Amino acid sequence: MNHRSVYLETFGCQMNELDSELVKGQLESLGYRLVDRDAGADVVLYNTCSVREQAENKAWSRIGVISNRKRAGEEIILGVLGCMAERDGHDLLRRHPEVDLMCGPGELDRLPLLLDNISRARGSELNHRSQIDERVALGGNRSRRWSTLQAAGDNLELLDLSRAFNPDPGARAAGRSAYVRITRGCNKFCTYCVVPHTRGAEVHRPPGDIVEECRTLADRGVIEITLLGQTVNHYCYTHGVAVSVSGRELAQVGPGLKSFEEGNLSSRPGARTTSFAELLELIHERVPEIRRLRFVTSYPRDFSDEALDVIARCERICPYLHVPAQSGSDRILKLMNRGYSLGQYLEFIDRAQARIPDVSIAGDVIVGFPTETEEDFEDTIRLLRRVPFKNNFIFKYSERPGTVARRRFEDDVPIAVKKQRNNRLLAVQAEVSAEVHARWVGRTTEVLVEQVSKQERSRGKRHSRAQALPGQVTLTSGGAALEPQPGAGEGVGAEEPGASIQLSGRTPGDLIVFLDCPRSHQPERLIGTIQKVHIEDSSALSLSGTLI
Ligand code: SAH
Ligand code: SF4
Ligand code: F3S
Repeated sequence: MNHRSVYLETFGCQMNELDSELVKGQLESLGYRLVDRDAGADVVLYNTCSVREQAENKAWSRIGVISNRKRAGEEIILGVLGCMAERDGHDLLRRHPEVDLMCGPGELDRLPLLLDNISRARGSELNHRSQIDERVALGGNRSRRWSTLQAAGDNLELLDLSRAFNPDPGARAAGRSAYVRITRGCNKFCTYCVVPHTRGAEVHRPPGDIVEECRTLADRGVIEITLLGQTVNHYCYTHGVAVSVSGRELAQVGPGLKSFEEGNLSSRPGARTTSFAELLELIHERVPEIRRLRFVTSYPRDFSDEALDVIARCERICPYLHVPAQSGSDRILKLMNRGYSLGQYLEFIDRAQARIPDVSIAGDVIVGFPTETEEDFEDTIRLLRRVPFKNNFIFKYSERPGTVARRRFEDDVPIAVKKQRNNRLLAVQAEVSAEVHARWVGRTTEVLVEQVSKQERSRGKRHSRAQALPGQVTLTSGGAALEPQPGAGEGVGAEEPGASIQLSGRTPGDLIVFLDCPRSHQPERLIGTIQKVHIEDSSALSLSGTLI
């Protein structure tokens, strides 16, 4: 039995968070012990993100610290997993000899083998060329699997299927919220984006497996599931044509690839398909214990009316669409290869608003894409004023190696201009968000209580530091919630612990809600439950209300 301790830190998107959960489960079942701090860990793994340079820099600084400790004589196995490993590949390992192993997101099922190889090679010359292959699992060209459907049915799929979900009472929503992957990879090839290069071709999981996974999670107490995919609403599974292992159908390469279209599975006469709309309805019907079904991230062009109607009709499917526009300028959208015009995006928004009552819309925007002029940027400002986005994640364009944008366009918008546009857009979005939130004041809504609010936690800490009372209960909760920054909150300024505790949670539309709960009501017992809340106040980032 293996008793080595492993510290695993995750950067990047929800897909990476899920991958890390699967890796942890896999390593634990092999006898590894997962620890919360890198200090003293035998193995340090970073599950990395490559989407922007900044994301890579974060990982680099962590890798640098561990490398220094290794050079100073500490025996640590240092592994780089995820998109950065896939993007930078073997070169990275040669340039940074302290890194012992690399494993791309499409090869995570091979991680235990790599760790074993390292252990066996310990004591011998690790940097020897022939051993590099034993320390590296990257998809490389294999990860764009358009030549064969076979590759989609590999052990990676089995990693998802073997998921051992142990609800962590310390996690957000007391472990009652979980992710389920429905597609991997992406076929869209937006010109700025590294994801199709790191995650490979779009692959769709069989609906039966997805429902089964949701059922298992529900049986373990999960009440909120977020379905994951880079273009999640592009999901469409054609039955009877996928790879099977021991008679069981595994994942299949998704539509959208040129080469794939030649065989065009989804339009094969008589083929039975499960569309995204049908998948949502299937999960809703078969696993009613899931009180909230969400999905991210959606692609504006891929929403059928059928899908919008299912969301409107099924009460446990959240009326929340994260559907990035990226820009409001047709010229820039074209250079980005987004595949839609501003008019088409707005037509989609109108359709969604007409069909789904109280639909809540969020997005992403990139500022400073190559050649973006002031006029292009103003088109984006107009878009933000036109659509009631509850929030937008705003990113400064970051040139990524291997992308078409890097090859074709010069990164010519100066960083000062990118920053200024970023700030201007944040200011506009703050106004829009404030209006969206204000509309909820006076209404009653359901809130999934996720945690003791950040302000409350820091107030608790400050108070316990000041008082140093032994045995004082300090409620903590892990997980990285997208909470408003302290100070933007709901006026909890006092250091003294009050008669009530401030909790935070989310509405079906993903709006953050703060609620004060009297200590006598045992507020911690509400975490992970859905409560009716009367909304009394709002800000740009959140709502506040009381339990009814
Ligand atoms: N699949 C999702 C998003 C994946 S990446 C989608 O298509 O919507 C998350 C966000 O990062 C993107 O929506 C985009 O806004 C941003 N992003 C991706 N590549 C970027 C780059 N090179 N520079 C700046 N932002 C980028
Ligand atoms: Fe990247 Fe575009 Fe795919 Fe999203 S849809 S992952 S932005 S290539
Ligand atoms: Fe980053 Fe890879 Fe996700 S690049 S955003 S971790 S798909």
